[in-house]
Amino acid sequence: MSAATETVRFDPAAGLRGRLRIPADKSISHRAALLGAMSSGPVRVRNYLDAADTSSTLAAVQALGARVERGAAPGELTIHGVGLDSPRELGGAIDVGNAGTLMRLLPGWLAGRAGRSWTLDGDDSIRRRPVDRVAAPLARMGARIDARDGRFPPFAVHGAELAGIEYALPVASAQVKSCVLIAGLGATSPTTVVEPAPSRDHTERLLARAGAPVERDGVRVRVSPAGALELGDVDVPGDLSSAAFFVAAALLVPGSRVVLEDVNVNWTRAGFLRIAERMGARIGGELEPHGAFAPVEPVTALEVEHGPLHGTAVEAEEVPLAIDELPLVALLGCFAEGETVVRGAGELRVKESDRIATVVDGLNALGGDLEATADGFVVRGAGGLRGGRIASHGDHRLAMLGAVAGLVSREGVEVQGMDAAAVSYPGFAGDLATLLSR
Ligand code: S3P
Repeated sequence: MSAATETVRFDPAAGLRGRLRIPADKSISHRAALLGAMSSGPVRVRNYLDAADTSSTLAAVQALGARVERGAAPGELTIHGVGLDSPRELGGAIDVGNAGTLMRLLPGWLAGRAGRSWTLDGDDSIRRRPVDRVAAPLARMGARIDARDGRFPPFAVHGAELAGIEYALPVASAQVKSCVLIAGLGATSPTTVVEPAPSRDHTERLLARAGAPVERDGVRVRVSPAGALELGDVDVPGDLSSAAFFVAAALLVPGSRVVLEDVNVNWTRAGFLRIAERMGARIGGELEPHGAFAPVEPVTALEVEHGPLHGTAVEAEEVPLAIDELPLVALLGCFAEGETVVRGAGELRVKESDRIATVVDGLNALGGDLEATADGFVVRGAGGLRGGRIASHGDHRLAMLGAVAGLVSREGVEVQGMDAAAVSYPGFAGDLATLLSR
């Protein structure tokens, strides 16, 4: 999506009102397609996300031999997997597009297929994103990964017989954790991943549902070798990361009151809501209790209305629970009283863009008062934003951040590269329009 070129203007809004059903979760959709392809029986998925990233995953699993049948309803799929051991080799590279999750999870499956090799590649943005973080643990298990400059796509995965390992993640990353756990399914002995702090646990929940021997104990997750996966049916809930844009918009635009339906509130994803509440937001809806581990993902309707905010501090522990929403924390900080600080979020530098630089520079250009640090940012509440222009840098979350900034600005915001939103939320502008027109 780095070729995003469309410029769209977002004018100051008088209030967001009404109800909206939030589109399907991207992380869970990727995992449903991958674990579906690895399953032995048919897997029926309801509400699979229709977006660029998740289309890349469907195309990848089809290239590997899975058959995907589309149902009558939008988002309804039946995936006829090839089973754990039978992904087929390809003549050329698997195209992961812009999808970091696909790029980091898929090698976990392929690494254990002894004697077979695959190459993965993607767009310009993906070619700047590191894969050494998955190559290192997979190499310790016995596979060989050959990456450009030892770190970047394109890269080849040479499958081998894998041994289980205990792996302490150098950074809290659900993608790396998932990759190692998936590889562990095909290893000859159990594999344990130890996280510095809990990160999203959708893989663990789906693996448990698929009958894989997976156990979680705080920040330790252990998987034992599995002969086969049987995922069964998966209902994909709405994506909290997509809902978060409307949560922020409703909190910031005077006169707003919205209900966001079918939102996944898995506690490992809901950090943004807790941070917003700490800043003074009143958000209705029942969040999953901290530490829960249920096979079925929890959903709720979030009720959000405008209200005053004050600054807060977000520390490293909380970062993985809100990683994709930290740009919105920066936006809230521009309107909050006092200072908002995010620390321990160096991972933002290796997202679809360097989100410390793009968020800080982007919001400063709109009249904000933000300062980048090595691993986060400091926002001084400056009574809001003037407006102006912001570039998405081909980053979907930057594009939608710019749109929300426009609604709450004094003069409006022009977003250059708004089409990047299609990576996770192609219907974003249309859904926003329905909340603005009531
Ligand atoms: C994701 C995990 C996060 C997140 C990304 C999706 C996932 O990345 O930023 O958008 O689906 O596992 P990291 O695990 O690298 O932090």
